[in-house]
Amino acid sequence: MSSTGVKMEQTVSSFIGKPVKMLIGKNWVDAINGATFPVYNPATGEVLANVAEGRKEDIELAVKAARSAFEEGPWARMTPADRGKLLWKLGDLLEKHLEEFAQLESLDNGKPLTVARAADVPLAADLLRYMAGWATKIEGSTIPISVPYTPGTKYLAYTLREPIGVVGQIIPWNFPLLMAAWKLGPALATGCTVVLKPAEQTPLSALRLAELIQEAGFPEGVVNVVAGYGETAGAALAAHPDVDKVAFTGSTEVGKLIVQAAAGNLKKVTLELGGKSPNIVFKDSNLDEAIAGAASAIFFNHGQCCCAGSRLYIEEAVFDKVVDGVAKIAEGIKVGDGFDPNTQMGPLVSDEQLNRVCGYMKSGFDQGAKALAGGEKLGDKGYFVKPTVLTNVDQNMKVVQEEIFGPVVTAMPFKTTEEITPVANDTVYGLAAGIWTSDISKAHSLASKLRAGTVWVNCYNIFDAAMPFGGYKQSGWGREMGKESLELYTEVKSVCVKM
Ligand code: NAI
Ligand code: MG
Repeated sequence: MSSTGVKMEQTVSSFIGKPVKMLIGKNWVDAINGATFPVYNPATGEVLANVAEGRKEDIELAVKAARSAFEEGPWARMTPADRGKLLWKLGDLLEKHLEEFAQLESLDNGKPLTVARAADVPLAADLLRYMAGWATKIEGSTIPISVPYTPGTKYLAYTLREPIGVVGQIIPWNFPLLMAAWKLGPALATGCTVVLKPAEQTPLSALRLAELIQEAGFPEGVVNVVAGYGETAGAALAAHPDVDKVAFTGSTEVGKLIVQAAAGNLKKVTLELGGKSPNIVFKDSNLDEAIAGAASAIFFNHGQCCCAGSRLYIEEAVFDKVVDGVAKIAEGIKVGDGFDPNTQMGPLVSDEQLNRVCGYMKSGFDQGAKALAGGEKLGDKGYFVKPTVLTNVDQNMKVVQEEIFGPVVTAMPFKTTEEITPVANDTVYGLAAGIWTSDISKAHSLASKLRAGTVWVNCYNIFDAAMPFGGYKQSGWGREMGKESLELYTEVKSVCVKM
């Protein structure tokens, strides 16, 4: 496995040393048909672990377990305070196992261990504890009603916010543990039960988290974790007639399939999909900060972020300075095995992603783009690609319009705020945007005009459990994190009592 740098924790090697099963109800089980699938270390392309491959029939059992836990188990009777305590405990357990989870995440996804330690695992623990606090604060309201056609009669009307029910959660591979936490946190705080399907590329941390969920004391069936492929396990979950809601993060293409699959029983749907986020640098900004910020906006997590600042727009007067600065940073980034403590950028997650990203670069070059930095894959082992800055691009090119999901930024000059606003909004996506300026009026006024779910000003990729995240346009439906996410895991019931 990893020959460089850090030694693998014994808990990690023993977890991946034997086939990893799936959690259904209280049991760790093999797939009904006995199938397993290989999970690869993207730094080497070698098989890291074998995992039970859930399919339709396994999803069927998991949904049954979740339904029964929702209807009749101790979970259904548990007080909100006790639910909150369990979530808090899970956050603590995760933190206690920080190094182990950081290693699993780095091995499975390729991201630097240093990043998984500093970001992925602490953010996941923090999210769970933030949601723990909400468990006791999910309130309805009392409503003074008048009812014109029953004069003289008084009523007491109030609303209850009840858990939506059994939730199917389908997550991607770019932040495997954090995406599991974003999904599980609000579902468990509100009292739902869950069937979670991690991405086939990176199922390990979610499966290990399921062990901690049991250790924390969540009743059986509240969380079921079934790994497997999207077309089989994922599709079965999205279409299942006894699932009340499906929450999905991934490609816009699959998001649309989820909506179709959900139509059968009109289950509720939330979607967090792709992005092609503009990052706009004005000449009046602190250029050193803007250059560093523009580089990290695209290169963080190897560009495999739905909110990556992948379209860089730079005011003409400072275009050369900024784009050269970003290219210089790109060239200095140390790309390597995530277990090497010097590594700043790891491999892409899979062979498929490597091909996809290289295909986009080729399409850019075919249409006349120039690489100021990078522009090609790196080495012949593992799925590495060089951090890339493309210039000579125009708004209609595929590399400017479509999500690349790799460390590839396009850079274009602009002259005025009026000119750049519609251009920034000119993709089918609307997930995030960045603005770099020292003019606060310009910042707020532009922030209000950008059609994006998050706008960062003089910063980028700043996340907090309390701040809602999600997309306009084809970047999704609904929001994750914050108070907004909880509402999307509840149904509102009006109760009307004649007095
Ligand atoms: P994907 O959308 O196929 O996979 C995401 C999740 O959906 C995985 O768990 C997968 O198993 C599941 N899935 C796939 N097909 C499904 C189906 N028919 N029904 C139900 N679930 C299904 O994404 P993929 O193929 O891994 O990556 C392709 C592109 O998607 C990337 O290049 C990137 O542009 C985008 N993407 C966006 C993400 C985001 O955070 N918004 C995360 C991952 C990918
Ligand atoms: Mg796919």
